[in-house]
Amino acid sequence: MNQCFNIKKLFAITGIFTVILVFNINTSYAQGTVKITVDPDQPGPVINRHIFGHFAEHLGFGIYGGIWVGPDSEIPNTRGIRNDVVEALREIKVPNVRWPGGCFADQYHWRDGIGRPEERKSRVNVHWGGAPEPNTFGTHEFFDFIQMIGSEAFISANVGSGTIQEASDWLEYLTATGTTLAEERARNGHPEPYDVMFWGIGNESWGCGGPFTPQEYISELKRHATFTNNYNPNVSTKIVSVGPDSYDEFSFGYTEPIMEAWANRTWTWDIHGLAMHNYTRGGWPPNIPATGFSEGEYAAVIKETLGMDQFIAENRYIMDKYDPDTEVSILVSEWGSWLAPAEGTDPGFLIQQNSQRDAIIASLNFNIFARHAERVHGANLAQMINVLQTVIHTENEKMVLTPTYHAFRMYVPFQDATRLAIDFDEGTYRVEDINLPRVDAIAARGQDGRIYIAITNIDAKGTASFDISMNGYSVQGVNGETLYAPAIDAINTFEDPDNVTPRAINTNVRRNNISVTVQPQSLTVLTIDAIKL
Ligand code: AHR
Repeated sequence: MNQCFNIKKLFAITGIFTVILVFNINTSYAQGTVKITVDPDQPGPVINRHIFGHFAEHLGFGIYGGIWVGPDSEIPNTRGIRNDVVEALREIKVPNVRWPGGCFADQYHWRDGIGRPEERKSRVNVHWGGAPEPNTFGTHEFFDFIQMIGSEAFISANVGSGTIQEASDWLEYLTATGTTLAEERARNGHPEPYDVMFWGIGNESWGCGGPFTPQEYISELKRHATFTNNYNPNVSTKIVSVGPDSYDEFSFGYTEPIMEAWANRTWTWDIHGLAMHNYTRGGWPPNIPATGFSEGEYAAVIKETLGMDQFIAENRYIMDKYDPDTEVSILVSEWGSWLAPAEGTDPGFLIQQNSQRDAIIASLNFNIFARHAERVHGANLAQMINVLQTVIHTENEKMVLTPTYHAFRMYVPFQDATRLAIDFDEGTYRVEDINLPRVDAIAARGQDGRIYIAITNIDAKGTASFDISMNGYSVQGVNGETLYAPAIDAINTFEDPDNVTPRAINTNVRRNNISVTVQPQSLTVLTIDAIKL
């Protein structure tokens, strides 16, 4: 890809670029085999497994119905948590779950959700449909759930309507030993301290979690970061500041002053991450149809998704000025498609269909995060179950895995893999007046020593053929799987759950070159065994 950019630049300088553009008017079908060169001897940074994180908010059926059915439910469960959902999530190795919100986090009072279930406070979920919030799923149930799926906690503390003491007590309750709060935790069933990997100080504090100006938020941030302490010596909890959102102009001003304040911080406080939000959602209110869309609408959505790259790049640029040693990570703690609500559903519940297009959106975002792996150390799909670009839909006892689920499963080998240099010409896929790259790809050396290449064919009509070589390496074996669907808006349903599901793909190896042809609108992951020549 770099090579492609360089060539364009060169032509632009020599004035030939316009000629190239004229020739580019050909549709993507005329574009030939794409040559991919991977250099296993040019390792990049580790692709942090936390970029494959999830977000589970008290919203619609995200928690209640999706995760929690209660111990008395007829739906098979363990201590109230759905067995089918746990089993499915274990497969995709969810590295962390951000909870309890979202906007909900700044109205959440943790004491409402501990102690005997029948004595818990019932409240109204103000942000999301005015739904009743019974608080039967609280701190202990959340940690039980993430332990079942083998994940880590990303807690968002209440800054908007809570006090610093309340947040500080929560972290002490979770992580201390020998204090009064720790004894209360033990009485509530968990003598051992919990591990808290990420501690978010508020959510969207420029909007639903405030609203605070950057300076107002910084003064909250400093006090929270000074007075909330992790007491569990086994974990070094990462403190996460609120950062910008790609849509909300009021939030744009957050990155620079926060990083400036951080650069001039006193010994009393620190942050390790800046949370950024970037949805694919067209306008507001979200009105992109989840199915039944045209190729032009598909292209517009993909174009918006690819804007993630610039959003990260602009914020990286600011952060590099204050933090050249990358002590503060970017965590894209909310991303995904935010489409028109499914017909007949409560618009406050953010229920939408999930199609093959969503799998493409997921893969493109994963690739962007991986390309920014030097600074992007975490990301959370919004949201995990039944909400927005979800990986699982449930309805009473039924469960179905979405195309997005399969994208997450196929990328598992990229978790904590080492990014490798990759070179290819992305080509052009043109729909009406929208120009997109035709293909995208990343490569990495997995923790098992094998080389993995993820290939996305963005083109909704044309297949794409690849000729892949490994610089200085001999290919010993290759296999792969691909996720494609007859239509870009193909979905999985409770009745037809395997309509969109990964399948094995044919590959050929000749003189150390791998050739593979992928379907339109598809996502493919190849596993390669290679040894140095
Ligand atoms: O994911 C839905 C909402 O989007 C979250 O609650 C909020 O943080 C964001 O605006």
